Formats: sequence, structure tokens, C-alpha cells
Amino acid sequence: MSDTFNAIVFDNIDDVKKGRLTELTSADLPDEKVHVDVAYSTVNFKDGLAMFEHSPVQIPQTMPLIGGIDLSGTVTESADSNWQAGDRVLVNGYGLSERHDGGYAQKARINPDFIIRVPDAISLEQAMAIGTAGYTAMLCVLAIEDHGVKPEDGKVLVTGASGGVGTVAINLLSALGYEVVASSGRVAENGDFLKGLGASEIIERDELARDPKAMEAETWSAVIDCVGGNTLASAIAQTKYAGIVTMCGLTGGADFKSSVIPFILRGVKLAGIDSVMAPIEIRQRAWERLAEILDLNKLAETYSVEPLENVPDLAGKILQGQVKGRVVIDVNA
Ligand SMILES: NC(=O)c1ccc[n+]([C@@H]2O[C@H](COP(=O)([O-])OP(=O)(O)OC[C@H]3O[C@@H](n4cnc5c(N)ncnc54)[C@H](OP(=O)(O)O)[C@@H]3O)[C@@H](O)[C@H]2O)c1
Repeated sequence: MSDTFNAIVFDNIDDVKKGRLTELTSADLPDEKVHVDVAYSTVNFKDGLAMFEHSPVQIPQTMPLIGGIDLSGTVTESADSNWQAGDRVLVNGYGLSERHDGGYAQKARINPDFIIRVPDAISLEQAMAIGTAGYTAMLCVLAIEDHGVKPEDGKVLVTGASGGVGTVAINLLSALGYEVVASSGRVAENGDFLKGLGASEIIERDELARDPKAMEAETWSAVIDCVGGNTLASAIAQTKYAGIVTMCGLTGGADFKSSVIPFILRGVKLAGIDSVMAPIEIRQRAWERLAEILDLNKLAETYSVEPLENVPDLAGKILQGQVKGRVVIDVNA
């Protein structure tokens, strides 16, 4: 029986980092305790950054390396007592595609400490339709709930609304009864889609992507910001007394200039959200809540399934803001 399988590998070719589709054998995989037949991976914004070296931080830190920050699949072999053959599992981040081989391959060998059990209510395909983007949206929603913001406190702003984090955030917030305002650069194209997910109002990206005053009218009880830059600064200036801004992304820029005023006069909290190295207990809590809250019918409207060979093309499109919702990669297609 052939031991070869397909993978997208980052390598230095003529001193330029490139991700390319290639064939590997099990001898190319690391010596980790849990062996997984990968079913699906995804294309996140970070996968685009990894593929094209646009990131403020270097993503693949060693090469050659299999790309893909997420995977879902089935355990085939395990030398760890927590995992058995047949278990349905997923991994988000934890250095996949940075320091460890990732999900763009038909086979993976994984450190058992990185693995989450896929909740019964969620299929392996849906797990990757959620992926790192959706799990990060859940981390933002948990931070908002833990801060004590309730639906009756007022509107919640989601920026970069048409993307992976944004679409899952709208789905989750509306399921919890929050009034969601979506900020998008593609209002004409995606306005109805975002309303279908549960946004009650859509605003143009440009309304926030400008130099704000130190404080502006109190508008948002909470914010989920995927964009950074002036959008984040404007969102902070418009957040209500004792509100919270959860900040997870940089599609509009890694730098931002703000004022201390909203923090010292309104007690606004700025909460950085990290999905990559979040401890396992936080991940488990996030995935359990995702299984409880997320509307899977709405999720089905937000993703397409693509073969492994399309990853480089999709990685380029996501960096250009041309992907709507989520892309699931069927590594066996
Ligand atoms: N902190 C973490 O652990 C973590 C985890 C996951 C993701 N992230 C980050 O969160 C961000 C979103 O990730 P994602 O996977 O959801 O990406 P995505 O699917 O590409 O969505 C990002 C959205 O941002 C908007 N956008 C794109 N280019 C923009 C620009 N130049 N200026 C303003 N808005 C722009 C677009 O929405 P509209 O067209 O609707 O405006 C786009 O759909 C990324 O920066 C990613 O790296 C961080």
C-alpha cells in the first residue's frame, strides 16, 4: 500500500518562501504521539499571511513545514491515554504552520496536549467552517459576557464583518440576543448576507476608518474588532461608559493611535484576544459554548468547501479581502 499523501509545504525555493502542493510519506512527519487522518482544514487570514510573507511577524519559523493553522480529523493511532483510534478531533493554532506541521495534509502527527475533542453536535466539516476564526469570535463573545455586558446594554459593533471572525461573531451575538451592528467595506455586496446572519444594521467601513476625536458619542456597549488601525481607534472613542472593546485582528493595520481619555473618563476596557496559545481549558470552554449557541443553519450559509490545490489562490484572495465568510479545505478532494 502506498505511504504517500498530499500536503502543502512551505519551503525556501531560490531564497523565496513558497507554499506548494507536494507528496510526502509518513517518514516526513514528526514523531508525535497522536496520529490523525485529516479530513478538513481552512483558510484563515493568517494562512494568507503565512503563504505570502506579509505578516508583521514571521509565521513559518522553520522550513520545510506543512501549512494550515487548523485541522479536523479522526485519530488512527495514539500512544497517549487520553486519545483512542476513532476519536473525532480538532486543533486550532498552538503553533501549527509556525513551529509545527499544520493541517494542509492528509495525515498529521500531533502533540496530545494540542487536541480538542469535536463536540458531538458538530461535524468535522462544520468544525473547520468554524475554525480558528470562529473559535476566536467565541473568545471575544466570552470576554464580552465575562465583562458583564448584557443584550439590554445596547448595540454591539462587529468590524470586518464579512470575514471569518466577523460572520461567526454576528451569528453568536444574535443567537444570544444582542443587537449587532456590522461594519463592512462591502455593504452593497454583502449587506443582505450580513442581515441574514443577524446584523440589525450595517455601516460603511469608511465611517470608522478615519482619525477619530479622543471621545465621540457613546454608541457601543461592546465591540469585536478584526480590523485594527483607525477603525479600532474610532471604536474605542465611541464605546459607552464601562464598555469593552475586544481586539483580535489587523486586516486594516497593525498600528493604531488612540487617546487615554476613553479609558480614564469612561472606564473602557481594551481586551486583547489571543487564540493561538490560549490554554486548553479556555479552548474547551469556547468549543462547548460554540456547540451550544452557534446557529448551524446560518453557519451553512457562510462557507464553501474547496480542494487542497486551491489553497494558494484562496490565500491570495483572503489577503485582498475577497473571501466572504469562511473557506473549508477538503484535504482529500
Ligand atoms: N487574535 C487571534 O488569535 C486571531 C485569530 C483569528 C483571526 N485573527 C485576525 O483577525 C482578523 C480577521 O481574521 P479572519 O480570518 O476573519 O479574516 P477574513 O476572513 O479575511 O476577514 C477579515 C475582514 O476584514 C475586512 N477587511 C479586509 N481588508 C480590510 C482592510 N484593508 N481594511 C479594513 N477592513 C478590511 C473584510 O470585511 P468587510 O469586507 O466586511 O469589510 C474582511 O472580510 C485577521 O487580522 C486575523 O489575522 C486573530
